[in-house]
Amino acid sequence: MEFVPDKENQVDSWQEVTLVYHAALKQIHTKLDILNDEFQHVHRYNPIEHIKYRMKTSESIVKKLKRHGYESTIENMVKYVNDIAGIRVICSFTSDIYRIADMIRNQNDIRIIAIKDYIKHPKPSGYKSYHMLVSTPVFLSDRIVDVKVEIQIRTVAMDFWASLEHKINYKFEGKAPEYIRAELVECARMVAELDARMLALNEEIRDINEAWDA
Ligand code: GTP
Ligand code: MG
Repeated sequence: MEFVPDKENQVDSWQEVTLVYHAALKQIHTKLDILNDEFQHVHRYNPIEHIKYRMKTSESIVKKLKRHGYESTIENMVKYVNDIAGIRVICSFTSDIYRIADMIRNQNDIRIIAIKDYIKHPKPSGYKSYHMLVSTPVFLSDRIVDVKVEIQIRTVAMDFWASLEHKINYKFEGKAPEYIRAELVECARMVAELDARMLALNEEIRDINEAWDA
């Protein structure tokens, strides 16, 4: 059942929204923790470096609705703002990203709504990440509701780039001078190169270890 907040009482229903999205975040977080532990158990390796999560503030939800031309109602928030609940999964290697995405895809109760692969198709800014919009069932006392969560999966290096770029854009209110944008694109290229070389190095070391263990 799609999550439909109570239209009569906006305060009550904002509290309900907060509760339900927090629950969804906790669930996805726990699922990822379990998958990471299991992966460590089977392969002696942790694909997840760390996990960050946040719930969007009411102010930035309202701003986003305005930007898209929607009236600020709780109903519109739930319907049109897909990143009220956001989880960021940081891993070491690009190959881990697809491994984690597959593990999420294989969870029966998680429904995939949309995928954006900004690793295969980076943004003009240079931004890279793998985005999954999913919905997860939250079990309340009297009903089960489907809640949307945006999952962003990226490497440590991609995350480093994205946080700096975000800070710079914030400072310039999205209108950074051309030479800074060009430098960021160049840094993104270097991040991709670093990720590729670290992955190759890791694979080489793994092969040596396997030869020793054989
Ligand atoms: P919004 O960008 O949130 O309005 O939604 P969208 O539907 O365009 O989704 P998209 O997948 O483009 O971006 C969602 C999120 O990805 C953003 O809120 C950021 O967290 C991140 N993101 C997307 N593009 C960039 C970028 O160029 N730089 C940085 N630093 N983050 C980005
Ligand atoms: Mg966007």
